Amino acid sequence: MPCGSDEPVTGNYFVSTYPPFSTWSSNKVNAVPEVLNQAPAPQHTPPLGLYIHIPFCVERCQYCYYLSYAGKSTKHMADYADALVSELNLYRNTSALANRHFSFVYFGGGTPSLLPDATLNRLLNNLQSVVPWNNTDEVTFECAPKTVTPPKMHILKDNGVTRISLGVQAVDDEVLRKNGRVHMTRDVEQAYEAITKTGFPITNIDLIVGLIGENEASFLRSLARIIDLKPDSITIYQLEIPLNTPLYRSLQSAQIHEPVASWDEKRHRLGIAFEQLVAAGYHVQNGYSAVRDPQRHSFIYQTAQYHGADLLGIGKASFSYISGVHFQNVATEESYFGQLQKGAFPIKRAYTLNHDERLIREFVLQLKLGRVSDEYFMKKFHVNIRDRFARPLGELERAGWIEHDAAHIILTREGLLRVDHLLENFYLPSHQHIRYS
Ligand SMILES: C[S@@+](CC[C@H](N)C(=O)[O-])C[C@H]1O[C@@H](n2cnc3c(N)ncnc32)[C@H](O)[C@@H]1O
Ligand code: SF4
Repeated sequence: MPCGSDEPVTGNYFVSTYPPFSTWSSNKVNAVPEVLNQAPAPQHTPPLGLYIHIPFCVERCQYCYYLSYAGKSTKHMADYADALVSELNLYRNTSALANRHFSFVYFGGGTPSLLPDATLNRLLNNLQSVVPWNNTDEVTFECAPKTVTPPKMHILKDNGVTRISLGVQAVDDEVLRKNGRVHMTRDVEQAYEAITKTGFPITNIDLIVGLIGENEASFLRSLARIIDLKPDSITIYQLEIPLNTPLYRSLQSAQIHEPVASWDEKRHRLGIAFEQLVAAGYHVQNGYSAVRDPQRHSFIYQTAQYHGADLLGIGKASFSYISGVHFQNVATEESYFGQLQKGAFPIKRAYTLNHDERLIREFVLQLKLGRVSDEYFMKKFHVNIRDRFARPLGELERAGWIEHDAAHIILTREGLLRVDHLLENFYLPSHQHIRYS
């Protein structure tokens, strides 16, 4: 259970699903047409979400591991947007998805707000002509400050976007520059003004704690400036340095001489941030975010997935989870466009979860929310989670990271600050200590 100063600062820790992606494989892709050919039984149909991956950025940030490309032409972006619509059409014609509406929609990247206005308008219209989202509970759209303009925000609002997520990361020009961000502090102010003037139901701002060049004081100054803006939601990720990032390579070749924050330092800074957010009237919702009003500012995309919702991911390298089968799209240009031109699903690898793996998946994902209900797992899986996970629960309770009341397993604040580092304790032995991606 590595959870102290001996943890390597590099590598992936953030858990977005279970089992780890490295266990999904190309020889399990046959499971996908099988599930797509079956309409789910009406009484067992979970909510369905749509994720749309937009893999374009102005420039690549030093620390970022998401699939995205800088410098693509507007023609390429328009062709990609049309390919997304063809992909959605393919899925719409399957028995599993034909008659279902989307409960939530998420445009992620990359930087979706980099799409030119005309392409964006066309994409939003064309997607909705395949599956209208007028009854959808939440439509999130990720933006980066330099690409936010008043006309673009109006296009989003007119097309039903309900939640803007603005990637700020830091409000400190020196730190922004050192981490390869293309925006400066003044761009954040302008972008935020355009967003608030347009008026969306929910605005979230992303920050990162532990960026190169940051120290505790500069991080807390950034946080204070964000709190002054009063966004509905503030998300703070602890910096990861995955092995496929420019930042990792620069550290390896000793091109960066600044100290890299340890996990203990990042947790300490995030712990203070949570206290300051609570003092400012926010409510901590999970290991990363706090919202002003938990009734109005919930994040459906996250909570629905953590409770077993289906998700259709379209676009290069995107992830789906339908009827207990995980699958991921191909990432290369040639294969993504090539497969779609043939009318084939552009899928690269898959994994079918058994009953126990579905239980583990939902249990670890719900632990990220800091609180897991016994009754939920008894009703859905007919399993007593205190018995099923007796050993790891006992160990983590003795370490002071977990506690419980009569009906819930609860993470302590110290547990919540390191939640992604604890989850592996609940995995099947064959899924422990393996590469995540
Ligand atoms: C896919 S990015 C999209 C946001 C937008 N492109 C931007 O950067 O402004 C979503 C979020 O992931 C977080 N993120 C990206 N790389 C990270 C890393 N290495 N460690 C922690 N968080 C990271 C950032 O907070 C970012 O806002
Ligand atoms: S953090 Fe955002 S802008 Fe930077 S490379 Fe990643 S997706 Fe692109």
